[in-house]
Amino acid sequence: MNPIKNPYSPGAGAPPPELAGRGELLTLASNSLQRIIRGNYSRSMMMLGLRGVGKTVLLNRIEQKADILECKTAIFEVDPAQTFPAQITKEVHRLLLKLDRRERIGVEVRRAFSILRSFASAFRVSMGELELSLSSEKATGDLTLDLTDLFVAVGKAAKSRGTAVAMFIDEVQDIDKEGLSALIMALHKISQLQLPLIIFSAGLPQLVRLAGNAKTYAERLFVFREIDKLDEHDARSALVEPALLEGVKFSREALDQILKDTDGYPYFLQLWGFHTWKKAEKSPICLSDARNASREAQRELDNGFFRIRLEKLTNRQQMYVRAMAKLGSGSSNSSEVADVLGISVKQAAPIRKEIIDKGIAYSPERGLIAFAVPKFDEYVRRTVPELANK
Ligand SMILES: Nc1ncnc2c1ncn2[C@@H]1O[C@H](COP(=O)(O)OP(=O)(O)OP(=O)(O)O)[C@@H](O)[C@H]1O
Ligand SMILES: [Mg+2]
Repeated sequence: MNPIKNPYSPGAGAPPPELAGRGELLTLASNSLQRIIRGNYSRSMMMLGLRGVGKTVLLNRIEQKADILECKTAIFEVDPAQTFPAQITKEVHRLLLKLDRRERIGVEVRRAFSILRSFASAFRVSMGELELSLSSEKATGDLTLDLTDLFVAVGKAAKSRGTAVAMFIDEVQDIDKEGLSALIMALHKISQLQLPLIIFSAGLPQLVRLAGNAKTYAERLFVFREIDKLDEHDARSALVEPALLEGVKFSREALDQILKDTDGYPYFLQLWGFHTWKKAEKSPICLSDARNASREAQRELDNGFFRIRLEKLTNRQQMYVRAMAKLGSGSSNSSEVADVLGISVKQAAPIRKEIIDKGIAYSPERGLIAFAVPKFDEYVRRTVPELANK
């Protein structure tokens, strides 16, 4: 079949040809945006899910919607190599420039710029030429207080411009504890003042690393949504609809096989769809096409997606991951993993933390550990021979 017409798009954040199964969530997000534009309050949103389920794609899609609705937007991925204040400074700066597009800079926007400069200087963030003008504001150096002042100023600036601000934060699990807590407390103030600022964030389903007040507020300030693999009906649509647009059909057996192999995980569906299209000679795509493609897709995953992640781990982290895989699919007890390794829970704890920090695993509940990458356990068992016959 014509490779140029292959509709599938396996890749990080690559928009799928058919965004299956996310209609309700997109409606919810759109309603939230429209509410804050009208000056009504709406909770921010936190989308949590495993690797490759489509979180980035959703954030991008909601940002496009916000843009169409004429919200001022900033979208970024948390970068552990930078401090959180540095990233926030850059993004807020960008937002303020967007608010500043009209001829005359308003009082509130000017004030927000000034607060941003003092925020940046308190956290030693370089802002290039903006640093040249001195700020009349004074930041305290306490992230929670200063971020709150900054968000309030941005919210007021947006309000004075008759618009709203939407921030999109990807890989939110990489914000450190202090940053996350400050973000929540800042949103708390925004909600009290009913200012038009909303955050859409996405990340791994980590136990939210928050303590005290911030935690109880988080539950009220955010709508938490689990982004899961697709159910059978939606997984079918994700494969069938894009092909139909090109006049191509799947046999029932081929489709069943792909659904079984991918288990409805969006990234895998795109990858399998892509390879099946490549293997098939004509429509309808048949079972042997699907089987051939499956081998190819599996090889690609093993040599890329999975292997890259395993190779990023140090020896002792790999040992930990192997012990997890040995315990099977789903979540394991951290104490059982330590048992397999023949070390104490206390000795295993730092390794466990490293793996979580690297985004390979997460803790679904206290004392439990699970892979954040779908089917990673199968890969580890497949590629480490001594585990295969456990
Ligand atoms: N609803 C969907 N229907 C079909 N395909 C989808 C859907 N959502 C995402 N995909 C596809 O899944 C793949 C992964 O999407 P995306 O990068 O957004 O996942 P992610 O959850 O952000 O992953 P990671 O945690 O690794 O960043 C992409 O190829 C995308 O096209
Ligand atoms: Mg992503």
